[in-house]
Order: sequence, then C-alpha cells, then structure tokens
Amino acid sequence: MTYFRPIIIKAAGQHPSPYLLPATPIIKLNSNENPYPPSPQALNILRLLDGEWLRRYPDPYSQAFCQAAATALGVPADWIIVSNGCDALLNILMQACVDSTRSVVYPTPTYGLYQTLANIYGAHTVEITYNSDYSLPLDQIAAAQGALTLIASPNSPSGKQVPLAELQQLAETVQGVLVIDEAYVDFAEDSALSLVNAYERVIVLRTLSKGYGLAGLRFGFGIAQPPLLSGLFKVKDSYGVDAIANRIATAAIADQAYKNDRVAQIKADRQQLTSDLQRLGLDVAPSQGNFVLATHTNAERLHDDLRKHDIWVRHFDHPQLNDKLRITVGTPSQNAQLLKTLSRLIKEQ
Ligand SMILES: Cc1ncc(COP(=O)(O)O)c(C=O)c1O
Repeated sequence: MTYFRPIIIKAAGQHPSPYLLPATPIIKLNSNENPYPPSPQALNILRLLDGEWLRRYPDPYSQAFCQAAATALGVPADWIIVSNGCDALLNILMQACVDSTRSVVYPTPTYGLYQTLANIYGAHTVEITYNSDYSLPLDQIAAAQGALTLIASPNSPSGKQVPLAELQQLAETVQGVLVIDEAYVDFAEDSALSLVNAYERVIVLRTLSKGYGLAGLRFGFGIAQPPLLSGLFKVKDSYGVDAIANRIATAAIADQAYKNDRVAQIKADRQQLTSDLQRLGLDVAPSQGNFVLATHTNAERLHDDLRKHDIWVRHFDHPQLNDKLRITVGTPSQNAQLLKTLSRLIKEQ
C-alpha cells in the first residue's frame, strides 16, 4: 500500500522561491512582488485589531470586502468570490470543472500552476504553444473546447496582454468555463472585466499580491455571474479567507488612490528598465506586467552570476525560455544595482 494516489507520486510539485526574511540583503526580482509596502490604511487595520476578531470564525463570504471591491470595480457585490490568493481560486476552479474526461486547455509558456493543478486533478490537459510573437493561437484554443480554458492576460512570463476582441471571440466560441487570469492587470492598459457582463461562462481573476503590494496576505478574488459562482461556492473551504486578511484586503481595495500612485511609479520604472536593458544589448519585449522578459544568449549564466551577487531574477527551464530572464521591476535603486552588475557581467563574458 502506498500513501498517495499514483498521480501524486508522479507529480513534480510546486517549487516556490525560497523565503527570505524581510531584512535579508538580497535584491529579489524573481517573484513579481511589488517593491513598495501596502496602503497605510491597510496596515492601520493591524494596529486596531482586537482579539474578538480572532475568537470568532470569519465571514465565509467576505461580504465587506465584496462591497468594497464592487465599489472599486463597478460590479455587483454578489458577483465576487474570495480566496487565499488567485492560486486557491485556480484550485477551486480545477476541482469544480475538470477530471480525466473534462479537459483543461491553456497556451504555453504561462503560469506554471496551471499544469501542476491539472496534473493533480488527473485532468486531460491540452497545452497549445504561443505563437513566436506571443500572440494567442486563438483558433487552436477554441477548437480544443476545454471544460476549462485558462488565459493569463497579461501573461507571465511574456508580459503580453491578449486584445479584448480576441478574448471576446474565445468567449463566443468555447462551451466550457473561460478563466481570464488578470493577476497583473493593474500594470496594463486594458482589462477584460466587461466580458463578465456579457458571458456567463467567463470568470476574471484578480489578486492583491501584485498591484496592492500584499503578496504575503494571500488574497485573491474572482468576478463572474452568480450561476458560475454557485458551483465554486460548493467547492471552496467554508472559511477560506481569515478574519484579519478580510479586513486588511477591504481597506486596501478601498484605497485605490494609493495603489494607482504605486502602479504609476512601477510603470514608469518598467519603461526605464526596458530601455536600460536594451542599451546593454538585451532584447526586451514591451510588458504589461510588473516585470520584463529580456533575451540574452547567455541568460542562464547571467542568472547564476547575478545570484552570486545577491540579485535574484528568474530563469525558466523551458525550451522557449532558455535564452530569457524574467526580471521584476524593483525600486529605482534596486533596478540601478541590477543594471550595474549586469553590465559588468556582460563585459566580463
Ligand atoms: C499569472 C498568475 N496568476 C496568478 C498568480 C498567483 O497569484 P496569487 O499570489 O494571488 O496566488 C500569479 C503569481 O505570480 C501569476 O503569475
């Protein structure tokens, strides 16, 4: 007798970036965290907490957060489902929608968790390679007719956002659930949220991990019409999101002005980082995320050498990404340190 299902024995599992204590002197540009702290309104919640908030179970439907998010986004509050990060919502969607006879479809390369979860649930998986310019192979995805079709937009690691008209075309064509993962949308010029009004099969995912600087809180949410949410509510943990996270997230999403200021700074720095990397000879595609994807023939070696200098960026073991580095936009001084070191390393090669 083995402990685990055969699928689990075979599974590679997730390999998150090692945890660094806040004061560790490492420039960490490998996980697309926001380099700035969250809203002071959100942090103030921690100062005002009393034990009564912890003695009781939290609101299972996070109604205060849903009201605040509804106001911020202009959607009905009962079109929102809350989770411990987008990751937990992706897990709920997989549990609710797929098995060995109901397929998961997504373009690659993309967020690695899609594959991990599909494997864990024994889903029939259809991976469709992105076109070489990272545009979406729309017809192939539509033809695959997944029970669950996952599109990260903006995508990671490409940083490319799928045009709204293409997502609408997919929403028209697929019969199953269309997940539009907008984890990075705060750094983009557009959003597919309007599709939720028109298509019951569409769910848009959002997170507070990126634009709101709250990756440590683990707070994400989805927006969809109630008939789609009804199946997801059956699957989610009764008390998925804790009482303190609910309160902090509610304050953070209500403070749009603070988020917008930080995002504007990161977008300006993304532009600067892009041109500085290009000046060093790297090929950098325009990005709609809080990161850039830079191409260099010695990408893996540069990654390893940067690490020796306590600068962490991301290199993927993937045939389409071997010559690429994904670099999170840091503070201006972190970006300057990265560029200085990179320039030296490239000259030494
Ligand atoms: C495309 C994409 N979706 C979702 C997530 C996960 O977000 P969360 O921190 O809310 O779980 C990430 C994290 O990097 C991501 O890149």
